[in-house]
Amino acid sequence: MKKRILTGDRPTGKLHLGHFVGSIRNRVALQDEYDCYFLIADLHTLTTKPQKEAILEMRSHIKDAVLDWLSCGVDPEKSTIYLQSAIPEIYEMNLIFEMLISLNRLIGLPSLKEMARNAHIAEESIPLGLIGYPVLQSADILMPKAHVVPVGKDNEAHIELARDIARRFNNYYGEVFPEPEVLLSETPTLIGIDGKGKMSKSAGNAILLSDTPKEVEKKVRGMFTDPNRVHANVPGKVEGNPLFMFHEEFNPNKDEIEDFKKRYRAGTVGDVEIKARLVEELNRFLDPIRERRKHFEGEKGTVEKIIYDGTLKMREVAKETAKEMRSAMGLMGSWNKISRIARDV
Ligand code: TRP
Repeated sequence: MKKRILTGDRPTGKLHLGHFVGSIRNRVALQDEYDCYFLIADLHTLTTKPQKEAILEMRSHIKDAVLDWLSCGVDPEKSTIYLQSAIPEIYEMNLIFEMLISLNRLIGLPSLKEMARNAHIAEESIPLGLIGYPVLQSADILMPKAHVVPVGKDNEAHIELARDIARRFNNYYGEVFPEPEVLLSETPTLIGIDGKGKMSKSAGNAILLSDTPKEVEKKVRGMFTDPNRVHANVPGKVEGNPLFMFHEEFNPNKDEIEDFKKRYRAGTVGDVEIKARLVEELNRFLDPIRERRKHFEGEKGTVEKIIYDGTLKMREVAKETAKEMRSAMGLMGSWNKISRIARDV
């Protein structure tokens, strides 16, 4: 039997090259070796944005993100793609797990403070649900009894917490959950085209996976390079220069990159030439993604159907795990009749 993987994202809409390098590429690669579950964590979005407008906004974000996954090669035949909020057992498991972890363990997590800061939530107004973010995440992870959780470094502490919860549950009630292992993404985050920080849509420095060839060209033309280089004959700086970081990531021709670097340092090549080559390579990389996108966009309702099918499948998995959880705990009295009030049999 294959080992199971679970990971996912909060739906923030269209994805960019940074997402590809940081996580999607990895997910696509893991699909054959593992039984993969990819969730769209819409409930997690509520921890900082519970307002109705935010919920309505998520609708298109969900479809955009899944379309990007599919376009990158996430295969719905191999992997289960599902919507978190449509699985009631996750809410149920979340409550049980809240009993198995101390408040102190949660409030010490830097990730929660950072999420609050990013969402402009003052420390004294942090919602209980945001404190519980990693508990909900643990429910996501343990629901399909995942063995491996591929995430970035910022989520590492949350996986550790899921392990703690699994261990405590098993201690109290008997072996139900495997302790999930974290699989850290190795690539450092991709820099934005403004050279100022990591690529992010909100910073406006992203190249989207859904950008057209023309859009890619325009963005690369405007890419930040060495600001001291007012002419092609001024020796330039390669280190920390986004132009070269992108070449390293997306241009498979390493000799060409070395040659560019040498000439850049010597002031014998213009930014224009190196950028033009980057545009070619980026579009070469994006073309198969565009092809797949056409396929999934072609027939209306395809993406919705894929999410629907995956969620239906996940619901069956969730029912099974929740049943095991309840029965291990001995909740709902000792006779069947009462548990039937709560559950369809
Ligand atoms: N916390 C993840 C993020 O940073 C999203 C997420 C929710 C997740 N549930 C998960 C990741 C379970 C891995 C496993 O957006």
